[in-house]
Order: sequence, then structure tokens, then C-alpha cells
Amino acid sequence: MKTFIFPGSFDPFSLGHIDIARRASKLCDKLVVAIMINRAKNSLFTVEERVGMAKICLSDLPNVEVISRETLLVDLYRELGASAVVRGLRSESDFRYEAEMNAANTLMFPDYQVIFLPCRADLAFTSSSIIKEVAYYGGDISRMCLPEIEDMVHKKLLDKKADKK
Ligand code: PNS
Repeated sequence: MKTFIFPGSFDPFSLGHIDIARRASKLCDKLVVAIMINRAKNSLFTVEERVGMAKICLSDLPNVEVISRETLLVDLYRELGASAVVRGLRSESDFRYEAEMNAANTLMFPDYQVIFLPCRADLAFTSSSIIKEVAYYGGDISRMCLPEIEDMVHKKLLDKKADKK
């Protein structure tokens, strides 16, 4: 039984994330999409909301499970007896960041294994941050995420703006 973990902040889940999850799910028996905490980022959505969004986006993939964890990734890796972590790579700057995380994770747990999947070329320059930025200014995010996610992003931003008043 080969279990892969696809970890991330997923704030929100984008078409790029769906593409990576779909392709990764074909390489393993079970893909665990893990909503985790990146302490360098302030999230727009709660962990529960992000789990809900990932489930909506991946509902057609039978061997995918969505979970959340507030632990080290290597602890989840050990807990699940995972064979690899999957991360999408968009650019050179992603690679630098991923190389650092991989080095730290491997020092903590030498059996840790990461697999990088290149992002779809047309989605290579989109990110959750760009989705939030574009949506904040009323731009069109319909080619970056599913319609359900688009609605949730707009609603969340409206709620936040209302809270500020
Ligand atoms: O989508 P992101 O924000 O690039 O994902 C980063 C994430 C959540 C995978 C990373 O921050 C992480 O693994 N967080 C869990 C805590 C941890 O293990 N930190 C050490 C990484 S070196």
C-alpha cells in the first residue's frame, strides 16, 4: 500500500493544486491531502474551511483523503507510514524554498522522500496568494479556481471588508 502525502496551506485550493493532486493520485494507492500550518503565512480561510474546499475540489478522486494537522510534516509522514510527499513546482524560486524544506525534513527524518511534480505550464504563475490579491481588487479568478471556490473567496473577502468597517 503506497501512501503519498500532498501537504500545503491550500488557502484557497486552486486549479494548480487540483492538477497536482489528480496526477499524484495516479502514482500511489492512496493520496492524503494534508492541510497544514505554514507559520510564515496568515491564512484567509480557517483550517476547517480549507478542508471543505479541498474536499469539494477532489470529490471525484476515489483514492484521495483530505485531513488537517497542526504538526511537523515529518511526524505526519511517520504516522501514516508514507512512501513520499508530493509538491508541485512552478518556478526556480519554488525550487529554492522546496530544497530548504526538503533538507530540514530529511535531517529530521532521513527516510523522508519528496517527489516534485512540475505544474501545468498555463498555471505556473498562479498561486493562492495571487488568487486572493486579484479577488481583493475585484479581478477575474475564474481561470484559477473552481466556481465554488471563487464564490467562497469573494464571500470571505466581503465578510472581511464588512468586519473592518
Ligand atoms: O502551501 P505551503 O504554504 O507552501 O505549504 C508549506 C507546508 C504547510 C507544507 C509547510 O509549511 C509544512 O510542512 N508545515 C508543517 C510544519 C513543518 O513541518 N514545518 C517544517 C518544514 S521545514
